[in-house]
Amino acid sequence: MLQDLGVTLPVVAAPMAGGPSTPELVVAARQAGGLGFLAAGYKTADQLAAQVAAVRQETDVFGVNVFAPNPEPVVRAEYADYARKLADIMSPLGVDVLGILPREDDDAWEAKLQLLLDDPVPVVSLTFGLPPEAAIEQLREKGTVVLQTVTSLDEARQAAAAGVDGLVVQGSAAGGHSATFTPRFASAETVLTEVVREIRAGVELPLWAAGGIAAAGDVRAALDAGAEAVAVGSVLLRSPESGTSATTRAGIAHGIEHGLETTVTRAFSGRPARGIRNEFIEWFDAEAPVGYPAVHHLTSPLRKAAADRGLFEHVNLWAGTGYAAGTEETAADVLRRLAR
Ligand SMILES: Cc1cc2nc3c(=O)[nH]c(=O)nc-3n(C[C@H](O)[C@H](O)[C@H](O)COP(=O)(O)O)c2cc1C
Repeated sequence: MLQDLGVTLPVVAAPMAGGPSTPELVVAARQAGGLGFLAAGYKTADQLAAQVAAVRQETDVFGVNVFAPNPEPVVRAEYADYARKLADIMSPLGVDVLGILPREDDDAWEAKLQLLLDDPVPVVSLTFGLPPEAAIEQLREKGTVVLQTVTSLDEARQAAAAGVDGLVVQGSAAGGHSATFTPRFASAETVLTEVVREIRAGVELPLWAAGGIAAAGDVRAALDAGAEAVAVGSVLLRSPESGTSATTRAGIAHGIEHGLETTVTRAFSGRPARGIRNEFIEWFDAEAPVGYPAVHHLTSPLRKAAADRGLFEHVNLWAGTGYAAGTEETAADVLRRLAR
C-alpha cells in the first residue's frame, strides 16, 4: 500500500487531534520519506480544508484521519452528577461547568466526508467506529485509499467486510483515544505484536501497527509480526513541528523527569483514552460516566482554562506507554531513526 503511494519509509506519523498534527508535521514526515496524517477530529470542515490546502503547498502525498460516528449517549443523571463534582473541585478555574448542557454531535462527519469527496486526498483513515459502507465506497471511487483503525480481530473482520483497503491495528499501549468500536466496555490490555499476528492470520488486508512504538526494535518487531508499516504518535509530540501546546509539553517533560506512568481513563471525554497520570485523573477517573462526546464537551472549557494557565495537572496529557522516548529532535530525524 505504501509503495503504491511512493512512500519509502515504513514509519507513518499517526494522526493526533487537538493540536499536534499540524501541516508542518505532515510535510516533515513526507520529506523524511514517510507519510503524515492530518487529524480532522474537533475541527470544522473549513478548518480541515485550510490544513489540507497548507499541506498541498508542499506535497500531494498525505492522509486525513476522521472520527467516524459511533455515539455513546450519556445518561443524563450521571452527566449531572459528574458536572457537579467537576464544578466543586475545579471551581478555581472560574468555568461555569453547571451551565454546560449535554451535547451529542458527530464531529461534523457529513461535512468532512463531503469535503473529502469534493476534493479527494490520497489516504483517509477512520477511527472510533465503522462508517456506512456507502461512505467507504464513495471515498474509494474517488481513488482514495481507505484505512480503518481496529483494536481486535473481530473489528478487523467487520472492517474488511465493509470494504476498506487496509487496517491500522492499534494496541492498548497507544496514546490518546482507543479506537475501540465498543467504548462502553473496558478495553483489554493487548500486546501489539500479538494482535498484529492474530489479525494477519485472520484478515488478508495490509496492516499498519500502532501503539507504544518507541525505538527501532519495536518497528522491527511489528514488521516481523506482519505489519507493512508502523504509525507513531507519542514519540513525535515533543518535535518542533508538532502543535503540542506549551502546557502539554511541560506536562510531558514533567512526566519524563518523574518517571510518571500512563493510564487509560474516561475522565476527560467519556471514552477510554491513554494519558500521563495527573491530578485530574486521580480525582475524577472513578467518577466519570461513559458518554462520548458529551463528557468531552463538558470538560473541554475546564481543560482550555487549565491549559491557558499552564496547569498540566488538569489537562489531558494524551500519551502512549513509550512516551518517555520522545525527544525534541525534528520529526524527520525521529522517523528516520525509528526506520533504521
Ligand atoms: C495526542 C494524541 C492525539 C491523538 N489523536 C488521534 C486522532 O485524532 N485520530 C486517531 O485515529 N488517533 C489518534 N491518536 C492515536 C494515534 O493516531 C496513534 O494510534 C497512537 O499515537 C499510537 O500510539 P503511540 O502514541 O504509542 O505511538 C492520538 C494520539 C495522541 C497521543
